[in-house]
Amino acid sequence: MLAIIGGSGLTQLANLDIARHEVVRTPYGEPSGPLTFGSVAGSPLIFLARHGYGHTIPPHRVNYRANIWALREVGASGVVSVASVGGIRADCVPGRLIVPHQIIDYTHSRASTFHDGIDCAVIHVDLTHPYDHTSRAKLLRAGELVDEALIDGAVYAATQGPRLETSAEIDRLERDGADIVGMTGMPEAALAREAGLPYAAIAVVANFAAGRGTSGAAIQFEDIERTLLLAMVRVRRLIEAYCRLQ
Ligand code: HPA
Repeated sequence: MLAIIGGSGLTQLANLDIARHEVVRTPYGEPSGPLTFGSVAGSPLIFLARHGYGHTIPPHRVNYRANIWALREVGASGVVSVASVGGIRADCVPGRLIVPHQIIDYTHSRASTFHDGIDCAVIHVDLTHPYDHTSRAKLLRAGELVDEALIDGAVYAATQGPRLETSAEIDRLERDGADIVGMTGMPEAALAREAGLPYAAIAVVANFAAGRGTSGAAIQFEDIERTLLLAMVRVRRLIEAYCRLQ
């Protein structure tokens, strides 16, 4: 059963036929909210709003461990994350939907592993390719089916937030090879790998990153809301097509 973790702009799935909600407790505390079980296009699906259903949990306070643990606990077979980002690369303009292929992690002070027990064997996971190849391919195929021109591949820079970046920080991220910037991609992707859950993401460009394009002087928050509202209609359509491919 597929799980969707929705980010800013996607606190619910309008095309989800809801069957029930379930509060799940985990050894790591509470997830961002109750899990919503239902189906999309006849395919069972679990939905979780990353920032809570009232959008009250900032990126650095999301309990990523509890979220991933809870989804695995109830039988998720894979996770598709929806996350808004700032666009750095020239073609990553507001409104574009991207299926990233790599991550650089700039976050800190977040509980980022299930393997931090004392007195147990040290466990490392491979994260060479942080996003699951099959899930990515399926997302790209779903994009073709609904005529959504997805960008195939981008390096996602995960920043700590909740503040946005300075333009010099964006320049540095670009020199590092980052194409898009967001605040929630890590440790979510790493935890999904530790939990054995195939993980892929739909990155929604909400704004030009600081200092780029129309964000030259400052980032316009009113524009972000409008962009996300319009883009999420296409994201829902994409998820529906993805579900039909299950
Ligand atoms: N920076 C970091 N995270 C973001 C941005 C951004 O510009 N836009 C949406 N999430």
